[in-house]
Amino acid sequence: MNFYDQLIENNKKWVASKLQEDPAYFTSLANGQKPPLLWIGCADSRVPANEITGTKPGEVFVHRNIANMVVHTDMNMLSVLDYAVNVLRVKHVIVCGHYGCGGLEAAMGNKHFGLIDNWLRHIKDVYRMYSKELDKIENTQERLRRFVEVNVMEQVYDLAKTSIVQHAWRNGQELELHGWVYDIKNGLVKDLDVTVSDDSNLEEVYKVD
Ligand code: CO
Repeated sequence: MNFYDQLIENNKKWVASKLQEDPAYFTSLANGQKPPLLWIGCADSRVPANEITGTKPGEVFVHRNIANMVVHTDMNMLSVLDYAVNVLRVKHVIVCGHYGCGGLEAAMGNKHFGLIDNWLRHIKDVYRMYSKELDKIENTQERLRRFVEVNVMEQVYDLAKTSIVQHAWRNGQELELHGWVYDIKNGLVKDLDVTVSDDSNLEEVYKVD
């Protein structure tokens, strides 16, 4: 069977196995969602949010784009964030990058890729902010690893700068932002320990009344 036809077959088997475990599986999921987590990850096919975290359908609200970016003019990201924070009332947001990220590797270089160059520009801005530290790392793979980490840190910080997150904190809503890096080579996640749950470390100029 070809790959495409196999997808439909897989789906039928999946439905059958879920119903065998729990005949009410789909009817209870259909009643609504209340996920405690928003996941902002890379579009990379090797980094599936639910599988990595051992979570089930209904537990993670997911937004993915190239290089897990939080771009403050990105209506798609902002809409997802707004809905997750203000309607679903998630308690956690995880920005998850991954070592070996092709988006970051491309952003580190000078090759012209076409339309995507405009997206990579945002990532290049992060490189510039950390260029002193990054340029000192001679090994390209090591430099990319560090770039992945600092990029996640910046995206967490960018989340904290949004009016959506600041308003939630101001209203006393419990909301923690976390930064993770997933290692494709061994499947393990590294918590970068950059968790923020209020605006106390936010630079004054970014604060909104
Ligand atoms: Co990636």
